[in-house]
Amino acid sequence: MNRMRLFHDHYRAVTVVGNGAYGQIRLVQPIGKPVTELLAMKQINPKKDGDSRPYQLPIPFIRELLVLHQARHPCLVRLEEVVIINDPPRSAEDFGFVMERASMDAATFAGGGVDVNELKRVALDCLSGLAHLHGLGIVHRDVKPANMLIGTDGRCKLCDYGLARFVTPHDANNMSPNVCTLTTRAPEVLVTEEDGGTISYGLPADLWSLGMSLLVMVVPAIVDQIRSVEGTYQFLHDTIGPIEGCPGMMESPPYKRGWRPGPRVHPPLRELLASAMEEEGEVSPVAGVEGLLRGMLRYTPGDRLTAAELLEHGFFKEDPPAVDTLVY
Ligand SMILES: Nc1ncnc2c1ncn2[C@@H]1O[C@H](COP(=O)(O)OP(=O)(O)O)[C@@H](O)[C@H]1O
Ligand SMILES: [Mg+2]
Repeated sequence: MNRMRLFHDHYRAVTVVGNGAYGQIRLVQPIGKPVTELLAMKQINPKKDGDSRPYQLPIPFIRELLVLHQARHPCLVRLEEVVIINDPPRSAEDFGFVMERASMDAATFAGGGVDVNELKRVALDCLSGLAHLHGLGIVHRDVKPANMLIGTDGRCKLCDYGLARFVTPHDANNMSPNVCTLTTRAPEVLVTEEDGGTISYGLPADLWSLGMSLLVMVVPAIVDQIRSVEGTYQFLHDTIGPIEGCPGMMESPPYKRGWRPGPRVHPPLRELLASAMEEEGEVSPVAGVEGLLRGMLRYTPGDRLTAAELLEHGFFKEDPPAVDTLVY
């Protein structure tokens, strides 16, 4: 096995572009290469005061490396190498990994919304990435715009595998709840919120999260409207369909506490999309986008289309075509 290379012998750190749960992301320049060949590095954060396990690598870091090592695809961020910051490494923060650099994440890209051509590119790329990941039996568990990168090749790529897990094709038991941001969290995860126990879910959770991510990219204001689990239920009830149709809802903690959906606050999905999408030529893109999202945003996990099925969706065959590249 090759020895891990010492970071400072081969790279120069440039700017910090992201600060996350366990690590910091910075752009790095390979020594002797032009700035056009910048890469990115995720380095474990220094341990917090009182942490008495200096040598223990964070589990998300190990998970992330396992997935990156195995899952190679143009729509999944590419791992270059694992590096050490000090030789010999003395603590967890002496480890990092170098990966391809992206221009920005999809949350930044979609700051003011996206048009149908861009949405098509993002959806196609993320579905291709997910189909590959799911084919390997890996569920991402944190699909959201901040974890979808716009690569320098103009493609959208999934990143951040800190929560990823290996599962059986449709379900996995003993998964911890509370994963994923509220807006993009699958209903089967949401209904167990606060239970503290473990739940059963699998690959379809990623399709829900992708559906919500795409919706949020078209209508960014949604993020500010969803602030609590109950707020999410109300949004889903109004926009997707009666929340009573969601398995496990009656047993969910808010329902047991007496929460019930109130009068309509949010518009139905079709109206919400129409309010944000411009008509292009004679054909409205709204029906096509709604059709695609409806394939993902189904309350019962088993009813959701798979990533491979969604890649064949009619939406991708109709005009307008996906943009060739998301960056120019
Ligand atoms: N390869 C990369 N190139 C450019 N920016 C990146 C890259 N990887 C991550 N980022 C930025 O850093 C943020 C945090 O990275 P991420 O891997 O999602 O870590 P965390 O687990 O802390 O969320 C991302 O949302 C994105 O904005
Ligand atoms: Mg992230």
